[in-house]
Order: sequence, then structure tokens, then C-alpha cells
Amino acid sequence: MHTVSCPPVQTLDQILPDEPLLMMGAGPVPIPQQVAYANSLVINHLGPVMAKVVEQVRAMSQYVFQTRSPYIFGVSGPGSATMEMAIANLVEAGDRVVSVCNGYFSSRMAEMARRSGAQVREVAVEDAQGADPDAVVAAIEQFKPKVVTLVQGETSNTTWNRELPAISMAAADHGCLVIVDAVCTLSTMPLQMDEWCVDAVITGGQKGLSSIPGVSLIAFSEKAFAAIRQRKSPPVHWCLDAQLANGFWGEGKYHYTAPTSGVLALHEALRLVCSETLEHRFARHLLCSTALQAGIEALGVPLYVRRESRLNSVIGVVVPDAIDGTALRAHMSHAHRVEISGSFGLPIVRIGQMGEQSREHHLFRTLHALGSSMQALGATIDLPQGMGQLEKALSADP
Ligand SMILES: Cc1ncc(COP(=O)(O)O)c(C=O)c1O
Repeated sequence: MHTVSCPPVQTLDQILPDEPLLMMGAGPVPIPQQVAYANSLVINHLGPVMAKVVEQVRAMSQYVFQTRSPYIFGVSGPGSATMEMAIANLVEAGDRVVSVCNGYFSSRMAEMARRSGAQVREVAVEDAQGADPDAVVAAIEQFKPKVVTLVQGETSNTTWNRELPAISMAAADHGCLVIVDAVCTLSTMPLQMDEWCVDAVITGGQKGLSSIPGVSLIAFSEKAFAAIRQRKSPPVHWCLDAQLANGFWGEGKYHYTAPTSGVLALHEALRLVCSETLEHRFARHLLCSTALQAGIEALGVPLYVRRESRLNSVIGVVVPDAIDGTALRAHMSHAHRVEISGSFGLPIVRIGQMGEQSREHHLFRTLHALGSSMQALGATIDLPQGMGQLEKALSADP
């Protein structure tokens, strides 16, 4: 009767590892119990319970983004969907855009702007360096863009744009709308959306927030929303139309069926950020990341980016010449049940320090797995020295 027959499949138990892997890569990251529980619930996407959840998600997000703007929306989709939403709503065909390109993800914003019909001027930043405000301002003065895009932390090569506040404020002074990718940094390090004059902040759930992948957050400033209201034509992406999203997130009207389980998970993730407070959360991330970095260097293994431009949220570790990065990751995964990330063509592996990854017990297990796998594959490293340095750095007085 049926032309396509039912395929033979394995159960998840047969596919999944017998012991869960410790997710220490560039995301997704481990999630707390409360987030996992919230993600197991399904509620009506319209009505008073969802309205309360949405109201609280917005209020907590205002704290996390440090903005008074009410235009904060949860989005069904990955971090890239919020990137697309920012571009699709703030850029119209023919507009000029300056994109600060530090690597793979910041260049994605340039590509999306081109696909929206914009004229794009890229400011290419040397690998493993932060962007220079003077170079960006020079491009703005010459090209006169409507929109400037840049990333806070470029996950692909583990670089931090330390000068983000200066660049954003200078761009705003020149009348530009500023889009910032905070996918890997939100809630791991300071971001002051209003104070730094940022007009759209995009982020995913699966990184600093320690929520699930697939439900993301975006914040638009009041200035950005006024510009959206004055568009000549609506954005082509109906699902990502910010005014329609505002109908649901601001007025409880149907747009599309919201991912209620994922929004509940996000609610719990944000609630945990609020109860920890941003101040303590930033301090925890800083301590854990710098201690892990010190441990790795004490193994005798260099880090990819110099300290002044180094991202703390994702650490780039140079793979010793004697070994292969893919074999290293496979060994860590099979022998130690620790998962880290590969790279985008660079001679590095990447270890995340976002949300639940920044816990002391995870650091010891990860550093041991890294060092011992390097040794097993033939590299000469000093494992006791590395472990000792991690212990010392974690117990040092701030
Ligand atoms: C800085 C940055 N921007 C954007 C993205 C894209 O996010 P997603 O994979 O959720 O679409 C990532 C993902 O790693 C990222 O690290």
C-alpha cells in the first residue's frame, strides 16, 4: 500500500553514549536541572500563563541586556535567526552597511546584509586581534552607512573586541544603528546595551545563558524600533518581522505558535542569572576562564590569542605539532567523556567557558582530559604542572 516503507531505526539508547558527555565545547553547553525540567513542559502559547512568562522573560532580559527598551523577543531558531532578524528589520535594499569582520561569525552578518540587498563595506580585522576603533570610524566617515555590525566575542578564532563600547558609541555619534552579536558572550562578561548605544543585541540560548539550543533572544533599542516602524516595505522574512513579533511579545497577539517549552527553559535560565546576579556571574566566568587558561599554559601548551584580545568565553588552544586536533578531540571524548570543539581551519581546539561550563569541577576534568589525551597521542606536556597551576589559580585571592 505504502510506496515508502518504514525504515529500520535504532532507539536513542542505542545511539547515545552510555554515559553523558561533558559538553565543554563552543556550545551547546550543559543545562541546569531547572532548565531541563522547564523544557519538558508544554503550555498554551496564548493566554494568561504564557503572558506572565513572557512578561517575566522580558523584564529579566532587560536586566541581562542592561536596557530599558521593551522590544525584547524570544525567537524560534538558532542564534543565526536573531542575526537574520536584526539585519532583515534594520536593513533595506540599497542601504549601506559597515561590517566589522573578525572571523567566521562576524562575516556572516556581512553576508546576510548583502543578501538583504545592502551595499556592504567590510572592515577586515587581522586574525586574533580586536577591532581598532579608528579604522572603523574611518570606514564610517568614508562610507556613511545606516547600519554597523560587529561581534563582541568572535567564537571562531576566540577573539574579543575589547573596544566594542568605543566603536559602538562612535558609530551612534555618526547616526548609525549598531547591531552587536553577543551570542557567546551574553551573561559571561559585561554588555551595557543602553550605555554603549547598541541598537540590536543578538544571542542564542545554548551558550552563556545555559539554556537549550533553538530558542534565542534579541533586543532592539527604541531608536531601532522607530526605524523599523518607518521602513518603506515590510521585511521579506515573515517569521522574523519584528513588528509581528512585538504583537506577540508586547500585546499577547498570535504571530506564530511560540516554542513554549523553549521559552519556559529560557525563563529558568534567565531566572538563574538574576538570582546569581550579573556581578557574581561575570566574576565566576572570569575566575574560571583565566584559571583554566593558566592551567593550559602551565601544561606547556600555548593559547592562540594574546591576552589583550583574548576571549574568555571560548578559549583557543594551539594543538601541538606532534598531534592532530581531530584525533585529540576524539580521544578526549572516548577516553574521558569530555567533548570540546574543533576549529574553522585554524590549528586550534576550542574549550568553552560559558554558563554551566564555568564550574570548578568541570575545569579539573577538562584540563586532565586535555593533557592526558595529548600525552597519549605523543605530545610532551607537563600534566602535574598544569593541574597544580589550575588549583593555584582557582584558590588565589581575587
Ligand atoms: C559569535 C557567534 N555568532 C553567531 C553564532 C551562530 O549561532 P547559531 O549556531 O546558534 O546559529 C555563533 C555560534 O557559535 C557564535 O559563536
